[in-house]
Amino acid sequence: MNMMNPDINLSNTIPEDDTKRQYDYIEKAREYVQKESEVLGRPMTFCVTTFGCQMNARDSEKLRGILEQIGYVEAPEETADFVIYNTCTVRENANTRVYGRLGQLKPRKKANPHMMIGLCGCMMQEPEVVEKLKKSYRFVDIIFGTHNIFKFAELIVNRFESGHMVIDIWKDTDKIVENLPNDRKYAFKSGVNIMFGCNNFCSYCIVPYVRGRERSRNPQAIIDEIKSLVADGVVEVMLLGQNVNSYGKNLEHPMTFAQLLTEIEKIEGLERIRFMTSHPKDLSDELIEVMGHSKKICKHLHLPVQSGSTRILQKMNRRYTKEHYLELVDKIRKAVPDISLTTDIIVGFPGETEEDFQETLDVVRKVRYDSAFTFIYSKRTGTPAAAMEDQVPEDVVKDRFDRLLKEVQTIASEVCAVHEGTTQTALIESVSEHDDSMVTGRLSNNLLVHLKGSKDLIGKLLEVRLTECKGFYYLGELAE
Ligand code: 5AD
Ligand code: SF4
Repeated sequence: MNMMNPDINLSNTIPEDDTKRQYDYIEKAREYVQKESEVLGRPMTFCVTTFGCQMNARDSEKLRGILEQIGYVEAPEETADFVIYNTCTVRENANTRVYGRLGQLKPRKKANPHMMIGLCGCMMQEPEVVEKLKKSYRFVDIIFGTHNIFKFAELIVNRFESGHMVIDIWKDTDKIVENLPNDRKYAFKSGVNIMFGCNNFCSYCIVPYVRGRERSRNPQAIIDEIKSLVADGVVEVMLLGQNVNSYGKNLEHPMTFAQLLTEIEKIEGLERIRFMTSHPKDLSDELIEVMGHSKKICKHLHLPVQSGSTRILQKMNRRYTKEHYLELVDKIRKAVPDISLTTDIIVGFPGETEEDFQETLDVVRKVRYDSAFTFIYSKRTGTPAAAMEDQVPEDVVKDRFDRLLKEVQTIASEVCAVHEGTTQTALIESVSEHDDSMVTGRLSNNLLVHLKGSKDLIGKLLEVRLTECKGFYYLGELAE
């Protein structure tokens, strides 16, 4: 991608001992925030809003951790002095939403001279976006990307000292900065990055351009992080990467994802392991075997198929066929019979015919997914698919999308119902949103169950009898 803007720092040289340097900036930022607080006679507040995937959600926890150390207090977006949008750009409408929300912030910022606005995440890695912000959204204070969120405190200090919009976007990086603060959303579960970036270049996808090349974290750093999370009360981890199945290939001492899982399984006190996302082309027999024997890996696999047509899969550069995918599903079901399978599907990829679409429906009917995220193809400038001929007309895509959704939902509600009457372990996550005499727990297969109970059950793993299936979730009761 073109990055010729002089304001944009292309260097990815990180000084030695970055962690320490950032803690120094946190101290410095703290002084500025304290001064502003004294002027205002109240604490300065912040709100981080996350768009997009779990990777972004984890990044937002890091941003929150830094902000809290600086002395900001969390508040709802409507009243926050510092509003941060951690953006996604995987589909065009994600970008449109951010511009819309920014427009709404402008009058608030005019009324509150202490207010700051920060933008970060995948969308900021697109040069056209930064150009547009510089031209039409001058009221934004800090703009940074996906590679340098660890520098957040430093950028805040720069903003306080310069009084101007601060822009710092890196095109790519090969560094991983460890041991910075983070503030977990849940006390009992946490995302853990195991790798960053993506090397797959699926022809529709912008992620490899905005998240850079694939880099795996050192296994010891991952294990140490999980051990310290467990010591802090965490019982479930979600290992995060764009393509976890290719973990470890570029490490100094290469290691497979299955080997990493085996090591993580040994951590005492850790009860549940989840991971996402898996690319079918890299899902190994070794991993299937480890999943089959594991006591801690949850019985859920998110395995994006994207399309059921081998012809379209080839144009998507997915590097597997319909048959290969279905074989993989068979193998997984043999090794882990009660596993829940979920997927991502794109409809309306350039050149997709009704026959191709029927192949997708066929895969959906054969696999019988527990749930599927369905997306209308979105043209992302700079990706190979954007230049392909035969873009499918909007009305045709919409019609296919509706038919697909119906099929997916019908099957999912049938699949969900099969567990009715069984007793399963649930991790209680929250008080139920609709009824505060109930709590909500998550089963190993990722389904939710609501049962009578109070907030002291949160974080506990309990045996729950699933009394009634309500389509996509269960009502249950504590097993005797
Ligand atoms: N259009 C529509 N959906 C997309 N995805 C990625 N890129 C696009 C695009 N250009 C979907 C894929 C991926 C999920 C995270 O988003 O299904 O698995
Ligand atoms: Fe996540 Fe991809 Fe969206 Fe970035 S572009 S937030 S990696 S889904």
